[in-house]
Amino acid sequence: MENIQQILDEAERAIAQAQSTTDLQVVETHYLGRKGAIGQLLRQLGSLPPEQRPQFGQQVNAAREHLERLFAERRAALEQAELAQRIEAERLDITLPGAPLRPARLHPLTLTMQRVKRALIGLGFEFVDGYDLERFEYNFGALNYPDDHPAMDEQNSFHIAPGYLLRTQTTSIQGRVFEQLQRGERSLPLRIAIIGRCYRYENVDATHSHTFHQVDAFMVDEGVGMAHLKGVLTQFAQLMFGAEVRVRFRPDFFPFVEPGVDFAISWKGGWLELGGAGLIHPNILERYGIDTERYSGFAFGLGIERIPMLQYGVDDLRLFLENDLRFLEQFPLL
Ligand code: FA5
Repeated sequence: MENIQQILDEAERAIAQAQSTTDLQVVETHYLGRKGAIGQLLRQLGSLPPEQRPQFGQQVNAAREHLERLFAERRAALEQAELAQRIEAERLDITLPGAPLRPARLHPLTLTMQRVKRALIGLGFEFVDGYDLERFEYNFGALNYPDDHPAMDEQNSFHIAPGYLLRTQTTSIQGRVFEQLQRGERSLPLRIAIIGRCYRYENVDATHSHTFHQVDAFMVDEGVGMAHLKGVLTQFAQLMFGAEVRVRFRPDFFPFVEPGVDFAISWKGGWLELGGAGLIHPNILERYGIDTERYSGFAFGLGIERIPMLQYGVDDLRLFLENDLRFLEQFPLL
């Protein structure tokens, strides 16, 4: 009896003094564990006179239940204190300045293509999408290239499968659009533009890449002539390069235009060639059932890389493909 009370007093003190759940666990094992103080009391049961055993047993059980309750209460209190402590220790100061994010930016070619698109949309052209992997027929045949024409060698491409190549020029959209016209999915007049990647099997140097971008635009309507072509390209050049820019057209040959010209702009005291242009060859219009007595059209195609090269003074077009941040971060954000 004495003994039980003594153990209880001791245990209550130890429970109150435990400062953490880990301490408390040690105390609990000491009193309630398999070899603990309460267990030892029960083992004394056998040495007591039989008439004392029931009462002693009840007292020990009551003492154990009492201790169990005390441990549970103390554990709950300690757990709560420890959680509060942890929350305090791990508190985030949301008023601290954040780590600065690097602003994302557009690639200079993307910026240029957006400007080209805005200019041509403003001039009334509708942008359509074509295919990088194009049928040989649209890239050459539909564009009035005679079989074995040497121009096809100049634009030697990556032939992917019989009849398919990576397009060498965005002019390859023309045949597809004219077919839509034939199927009644479009009607005249046409004012179509396309911008996208082109591929040529080239000797790569500072101004030629195997992968580059072009913009093509063409218009078909009644009475379209060189004056319209010249007017549109002049306005386009002014939108892109400023009101003072002058344009130059010189005779050139492309199988899909007649007459054909090359197109250059005045730049720093000289002329800079941007691409080719001309009136759509009547053979092409007739091939798609367009009445050439009534309708005619112009077309032009320009290289995109040239534009940021001259605007930002980039002397090697390969820089656009390398994605070196030291280069890309020099361009405006928008
Ligand atoms: C053409 O590709 C014609 N389709 C343009 C055209 C369209 C003429 C409609 C008439 C009517 P050309 O091969 O010259 O033409 O290429 C046009 C422009 O694309 C060039 O002036 C140049 O700026 C660019 N270009 C051509 N090849 C490369 C290359 N390997 N790397 C970078 N730019 C290139």
